[in-house]
Amino acid sequence: MQIRDSIRTIPDFPKPGIQFRDVTTLFGDAQAFRMAIDNLLHPYAGARIDKVAALEARGFIMGGAIAHQLSVGFVPIRKAGKLPGPCMSESYSLEYGEATMELHEGAFKPGERVLLVDDLIATGGTCEAGIKLIRRAGAIVIGSAFIIDLPALGGRERIEALDVPVHILCEFEGD
Ligand code: PRP
Ligand code: MG
Repeated sequence: MQIRDSIRTIPDFPKPGIQFRDVTTLFGDAQAFRMAIDNLLHPYAGARIDKVAALEARGFIMGGAIAHQLSVGFVPIRKAGKLPGPCMSESYSLEYGEATMELHEGAFKPGERVLLVDDLIATGGTCEAGIKLIRRAGAIVIGSAFIIDLPALGGRERIEALDVPVHILCEFEGD
C-alpha cells in the first residue's frame, strides 16, 4: 500500500471538482520512488527491452530512472514545439480542443522493442499518441507502465485494444 499512500490528492485542482493525484509526494519519498520503479518493471523482468520511451512531462521522471535501471537508452515523447530536430507528430482530442505529441525522427531503429511509461493514464489519449508515434518509427511497443489508473475514464481498455499490455500500480476511483 505504500505506493498508493504516498500519492497526495489535491481537491479542486486545476479546476473545481477535479481531484488531482499528485505524484510529487511519491517522487519525494525515497522508498516509495524506488518501490514504484521496481514494481513498474516487475512484469517485464527477463523481457528484451531495447529502449524506454516516456511522455512529457511527469513520465520523464520515471522513464529516466527505468532506462537507467535497465541500462538502455531513453527517448522523450514531447508536447508540440519542444524537440529541436525533425519530428513526427500525432494529435489527439482533449475534452476541449486538441493536443499534439512529437517524436524525433530516427529516435528508434525499426524493430526495436520499446517500453512506454507515464505517471498516469486517464482517457489514454496521450498514451495512444505515443504508441502511434513509436509504431510509425517502425519500433514495437512491448508494453506500457503507469503508476496510476483512473479506471472510470477507460484508458486501460483503449490501450489494450491497440494490443499493448498495460501495467498499473494503483487505481483511484472518484474520491
Ligand atoms: C497528464 C498525465 C498523463 C496524461 C493522462 O499529463 O501525466 O500524461 O495527462 O491523460 P490522458 O490519459 O487522458 O491522455 P498532462 O497532460 O497533465 O501533462 P504533464 O505530465 O506535462 O503535467
Ligand atoms: Mg503527463
